[in-house]
Amino acid sequence: MPDVQSLKEVAAVSQPGLPSIRPPFDLDEIRRRIPLFGTAIPLNSCSQGPLMASTRDAATEFLDSWDRRGMDWAAWIAEVETARALFARLINASLDEVAVTTSVSAAAASVASALDFSAHRNRILISDAEFPTVAHVWQAFGKYGAKVDWVPSISGEIDIEEYPRRLGPHTALVSACHASYKNGSRQDLAKISQWAHEAGALVFADAYQTVGVEPVDVKDLGIDFLAAGCLKYLMGTAGIAFLYIRRELLENLEPAVTGWFGRHDPFSFQLTPVDWSDSARRFDTGTPAVLNAYLARAGMEAVSEVGLEAITGWTRTLSEHLLHGLEERGLEVLGPRDWRRKTPLTAILCPDAAKVEALLKGRGILASARGDALRLAPHFFNAIEDIDQALDTLVEILEGL
Ligand SMILES: Cc1ncc(COP(=O)(O)O)c(C=O)c1O
Repeated sequence: MPDVQSLKEVAAVSQPGLPSIRPPFDLDEIRRRIPLFGTAIPLNSCSQGPLMASTRDAATEFLDSWDRRGMDWAAWIAEVETARALFARLINASLDEVAVTTSVSAAAASVASALDFSAHRNRILISDAEFPTVAHVWQAFGKYGAKVDWVPSISGEIDIEEYPRRLGPHTALVSACHASYKNGSRQDLAKISQWAHEAGALVFADAYQTVGVEPVDVKDLGIDFLAAGCLKYLMGTAGIAFLYIRRELLENLEPAVTGWFGRHDPFSFQLTPVDWSDSARRFDTGTPAVLNAYLARAGMEAVSEVGLEAITGWTRTLSEHLLHGLEERGLEVLGPRDWRRKTPLTAILCPDAAKVEALLKGRGILASARGDALRLAPHFFNAIEDIDQALDTLVEILEGL
C-alpha cells in the first residue's frame, strides 16, 4: 500500500489561475455530475453520499428494462454479479470470497449464524465504540450461547493494546470497526488480526467508514470477515451490502441465515439437500435487491474511475484543511486531530448538534449530527472552498445560538 505522505503529495496539485489547490483529477467535471451542488454542499459522506447523474441513469436502466421486457432476470442477476465483482476489487478479494447481502447488520447476523457458540469458545470481543448494530447482533446471539466482552473506549478512541488484554481461549470472534463512525479514528486491523489469530479467534471487520475513501486490502489486513454497505463513501444507497469471507474458512461455515441463492445450484429447485455453494455465495440468501445492485454498481464505478489512491490523497488534503480551519476558528475536535490517524470524517464538539445540523442544512451545508458531535466528512467531489464555506457558516450559526 502506498505511504500516506506520497498520497498527499499526489493530491496537492496547485493549478495556476485556480483559487486554491485542486486534486489531480477534474474536480469541476465531477461536480457537474452531482446535481445536488446546485442547491447544497454535501459534507456528510459518513452518513449518505450524494446522487451522481450516472447513478440516476443506472436506476433508469433497471426501470426501463423492467418496463420494456417485463422480466429480465439474466440481465438483472448479471448486474448483481458486476456489483459483487466491483466490491471484491475494491477490497482486494476474489469474486468467490464476496457475498451479496442487504446491510452490515444482516452480514453480521449471517456470520454469527455460521458460528457455534454452544462450546467453550463462545465469547465475542468488541469495542464500545462500534456502530451499535454490530453489537446488537452479537448480543442477540446470547440466546445461542454467545457472550460479549467489551474493549472500553476513552473519549471515543480505542487503545488497541486493550484487545490482547481481553483475548482468551474462550474468544471465538473479535469484532472491530476499521474506522469509527463517531470521529473517524482508524484502528490497526492488521495488528488486531494478528493478536486474535494467535489466540485462535476470528476477526470480523466493519469497514463501512473506510471502503470507498481509502484502499482497503483484506489480504494485508489478514481479517476473516469484512462487511460494508453502499450509502456512504461508495456513492450508493441502502438495501445492498457486501460480506467478505476468507476463502480458507468457507467450507466449514454453514450460516443458518440462508436461502436459495446460497445453494450450489439455486435453480435445481430441490428442497433437500441444503447443497452449499463452494464460494462465499453460500452467505447469499434470498432474491437479491436488483435495483439496489444497479445503484451500487454505478456508485462503485464512479469511485473506481477516480481511483482510491487519488481519493485518499485528496480527502486527506481536505481533512487537513478542515482540522486547520477548526483550530483557527477555536472549535473543538472530538477524537484524533491528526489526519494520518483518521478518515476524512471530523467530529466537532457541538452541544446542540442536531439543531446545528438542521440550521446548516437551511443554509445549504449538509453535515451529520451524532450525540454532541457535528460530523463533517468530505469526499473526492469536495473542494477546499466547500470546507471554508461550511466552517464560516458554522461559526455564524454557533454565534447566533
Ligand atoms: C461503521 C458503521 N457500521 C454499520 C452501519 C449501519 O449498518 P447497516 O445499517 O447496513 O446495518 C453504519 C452506519 O449506518 C456505520 O457507520
